[in-house]
This record gives sequence, C-alpha cells and structure tokens, in this order.
Amino acid sequence: MDKPNHILRPGKRNGAVKKNGLRHEYQPAIANSAAMTKTTAKHLNLPLNCFAAVPRGAEELAASELAALGIRDAKPGKGGVAFIADRAGLYRANLWLRTASRVLVQLALFPCTNPAELYAGVYAISWQELITPDMTLAVDCSLRDSALTHSGFVALKTKDAVVDRIRVSCGSRPNVDTAAPDMRINVHLHKNICTISLDSSGDSLDRRGYRLERNEAPLRETLAAAVVALTGWDGTIPLADPMCGSGTIPVEAALMAAHIPPGLQRLFGFQRWLDFDSALWADICAEAEAGIRRLLVGLVTGYDVDNKALLLAGRNCSKAGLEGQIHFFHAALLEFRPEGDKGVVIINPPYGKRLGDEDDLRELYCQIGDVMKKQCRGWTGYVLTGNLELAKYIGLKASRRYVLFNGAIECRLLKYDLY
Ligand SMILES: C[S@@+](CC[C@H](N)C(=O)[O-])C[C@H]1O[C@@H](n2cnc3c(N)ncnc32)[C@H](O)[C@@H]1O
Repeated sequence: MDKPNHILRPGKRNGAVKKNGLRHEYQPAIANSAAMTKTTAKHLNLPLNCFAAVPRGAEELAASELAALGIRDAKPGKGGVAFIADRAGLYRANLWLRTASRVLVQLALFPCTNPAELYAGVYAISWQELITPDMTLAVDCSLRDSALTHSGFVALKTKDAVVDRIRVSCGSRPNVDTAAPDMRINVHLHKNICTISLDSSGDSLDRRGYRLERNEAPLRETLAAAVVALTGWDGTIPLADPMCGSGTIPVEAALMAAHIPPGLQRLFGFQRWLDFDSALWADICAEAEAGIRRLLVGLVTGYDVDNKALLLAGRNCSKAGLEGQIHFFHAALLEFRPEGDKGVVIINPPYGKRLGDEDDLRELYCQIGDVMKKQCRGWTGYVLTGNLELAKYIGLKASRRYVLFNGAIECRLLKYDLY
C-alpha cells in the first residue's frame, strides 16, 4: 500500500488577519499512516496541496497551463495534475485553466478500510474552522479498488463526521444542499487511501457561463479547449470548424486567442469560503481583463448545416464576450472553402454513438476526406471522433493520433497534413 507522505489540514489559527472572527489558514502537516501530526505555520499564504481533475488524455496540457501560470513542478498523473500553490495560485488556476474540470485542495490523507476509519479520519479535521453552522455543504465521492465500495454510503458517512464535528464545536450543524452548497467536500478512496479535499471550483470548470442552451451533442468546453491546444494553434493563422454545432470549438479557440480567461464570467466555490480574499481576487481578475485583446476578422470561423445550431453558436459567442469576433456561416460541408493558404481546420462530426445513424454517416466521413484533400490544401486538418470504424472512411492517412475522452467515450483526435 502506498504510504501517504504529505497532508494539508486545517490547523490552529495563525493569529494573522481575521475576517468576522472566522478567518482561518491551512497548516501543512507531515503524516504517516498511523498518526497525523500538526506543525505550526506562521504565514498567511501557506502552500496548498492542489489537484486539478482533468479529462483523461489532457493531463499534460493542464500541466503546461499551470506552468504558464507560474506554477512550478505540476505533476501530471492519470486523470489530473497535482501541484502546490498559494492562494493567488489557486485563484488563478480556477480562473485560467481551460482543460481542467475542477481544482481540489487537499485537507487530509489517511488509510481507510472500514466505516470507523473513515469517520475518524474525517472527524479529525477541524471542520468548524472551515464551515459555520449557517453554511451549507455537499459531499462528492469517488471510489476505486477499495474495501468500501458504495459511494453513497461513503458520502453519507463523511457528511456525518463533518456535521458532528461542527455540532460538538459550535452547538449546531450545517445543512446539506447538493445543488448549490457553500462548501463542496470531495472524498476520494483509492486502494484504501482516503483523500479529503475541498472543491475550490464549486461548479465544474467546464461550466464557463457562456452556454445558454444545449444542442444535441455539444462538446464539453474542457475537451474543446484540449483539442485546440493539441493542434498547437497559436492564434496567428486562421482556425475553421466546418461542423461547429453550438460553436464550442470556435468559442474556446477565440477565448484563447483573445486571452480571455475561461472563468471570467462565473463564480467559484472558493468565493464562498471563509478565507476568501476578495481584494486578491479583484486584482487577479483586473490583471486578466487588462490583457484581453480583440481578434482580427476571419481569424476564427464556424460553419454548420443546421440553422438552429448556428443560432446557439452565435449566442454562445456573444455571451462569451466575443460578440462579432467569430464569424459563423450556414453551409453544408461540401460547400466549405476556407480562406487563406494555411490554417487549422477542426472537425467534430457526429459519430453514431449519440447523434446520427452509423450507416448514414459513412458518406459524411467520405466527404470529410474529400473536402480536406481538395479544399484545404496547405492547411492542417484535425478530426475528433469516437468512432474509429467511421474514421476509416475519411480515406486519408493520419500523421498523429491523440486519445481523449468525451465523458466515458474514448475518442481520437486525428491529425492530417494536407498538401
Ligand atoms: C457532433 S456535432 C458538433 C458539435 C459541436 N462541436 C458542439 O460543440 O456543439 C456535429 C455537427 O455537424 C453538423 N453537420 C452534420 N452534417 C453536416 C453537413 N453535411 N454539413 C455541415 N454540418 C453538418 C450537425 O448539424 C452538427 O451540428
């Protein structure tokens, strides 16, 4: 069994700034599996042990994003990236990460093979310093290869330990609100090691705030951002999506090129925390807003045969703060003629599992190959599909293949050099 080597847990108040008498700091503590030992820390911005949960296949991209934010030593692993940050780093990660779905702040790590160990490990955390009885909470749970196998039970037991600890300390307990809690607690059990974290993101980070309605098969925003990042597009040459649907790929590409943080329009879980530093947050947002730039006409374009989808794409684009900066056209794939002698074309065709019938789609995939070959000379083509059988009908040789997950669906992003 892996030996836990480092935990962060709420500790004694450090005597620094107190807001409404409730301010707290996390204190790092070195733990072994038998006992968790507190150490004293005297700084306000102590490093936080963070974990950015990332769709599988995008971990390296998220680590690069963190490096670009000045966060060193981010460690990509399966399904996420571990990193150390101060409070500013945590806020920036939430605001700027395009490929991550949430950022967790680890509080404790302990061995757990039965309900009693779970309860004791959770109860040991000073929850009364993090959550007051008038706040609401929710517990999310994920389990893998562990003795406890029922996620609902683990979440319930965790919640019991949290509210019991607060009741004993404060005389009353917080209520549960699964829809919009003030504090989202994350419990993760893997190989009988339990990690308890606070979810600093609240709503998943792919909820940027620009998608007003959903069309039939929208790409998750984080996945669209990962696709654009994998193409290496840097905003200096055109990018076109001939089957743009609700415009997720063009919008994510344009947000990147315009230096608009994906989270600029939304609220985050950490904004409800007792230690929320609103002045620091305001500075980080102001700095981000100052860097936003306007895109050149024709840089990012989207096309679709479905007018309803295009209407959504236009609305999403405006809501994302990109009004008039992405150009959408009603066109069937066969009419697609990109302008310019080089650029990046990204296609996310229907692939049968959720939308469209596979038989009808063979012809569409043949068309994709023809259009890329005949109309996109000099460009680089990318096709994101969850159906490798259909992909064969493209009839061109892919020069690279990336594995990505669209929810549970294993997809390939195929790269085509179009001479
Ligand atoms: C999987 S969806 C794309 C979803 C999109 N990435 C999003 O996030 O909303 C495929 C899109 O291809 C469009 N489409 C299907 N056949 C087409 C064709 N022959 N020409 C142009 N668009 C087509 C559909 O209208 C649909 O919007």
